[in-house]
Amino acid sequence: MEKNEVVGNILFTEEQILSRAKEIGQEITEEFKGEEVVLIGTLKGAILWMSDVMKNIGLDTKIDFIIASSYGSGTTSSGVVKIKKNIDMDIYGKNVIIMEDIVDTGTTLKFIKEYLADRKAKCVKICTLLDKPSGRKVDVEADYKGFTVEDLFIVGYGLDYDQKYRNLPYISYLEG
Ligand code: IMP
Ligand code: MG
Repeated sequence: MEKNEVVGNILFTEEQILSRAKEIGQEITEEFKGEEVVLIGTLKGAILWMSDVMKNIGLDTKIDFIIASSYGSGTTSSGVVKIKKNIDMDIYGKNVIIMEDIVDTGTTLKFIKEYLADRKAKCVKICTLLDKPSGRKVDVEADYKGFTVEDLFIVGYGLDYDQKYRNLPYISYLEG
């Protein structure tokens, strides 16, 4: 189904996002005091959120990226997850935090979480910019959440529609 490509109102400003990133970075710092963390960003949507949060983590921090996809170029999940780019790092015994843009059906994240846990990480946590609980189809919950959104198609701050709008410095949605 084609989306009517009209960007709606601003839901969250850059200032609000940076402030949540700071709070969450501090929370992670507290929780993993004295330990190392490995942040695994889910490309491409999570890059802005990941960079904001990581600046606020006061621990030894390593980063890596994964590309997993359950989406084509449309706006509904196919439910099939494929890893298109794997992590390079050995995460055996590591504190892993998946950095995600949005948890919608949860399909992608559940798959990634189980995949990383199978590689014998010490723990696998989830840090998402947005949570869309109305879309959930599988049982997965984020440990750290920036904001909760309604049943809207979100764009901006890393999130795209057909690869567009990732550069918007705020979170909005497509109308229609
Ligand atoms: P899932 O349905 O939770 O597996 O979501 C998979 C991926 O679809 C997310 O990580 C996003 O990249 C993308 N996605 C889900 N909902 C939205 C949305 O509202 N706007 C843009 N991308 C979305
Ligand atoms: Mg994503």
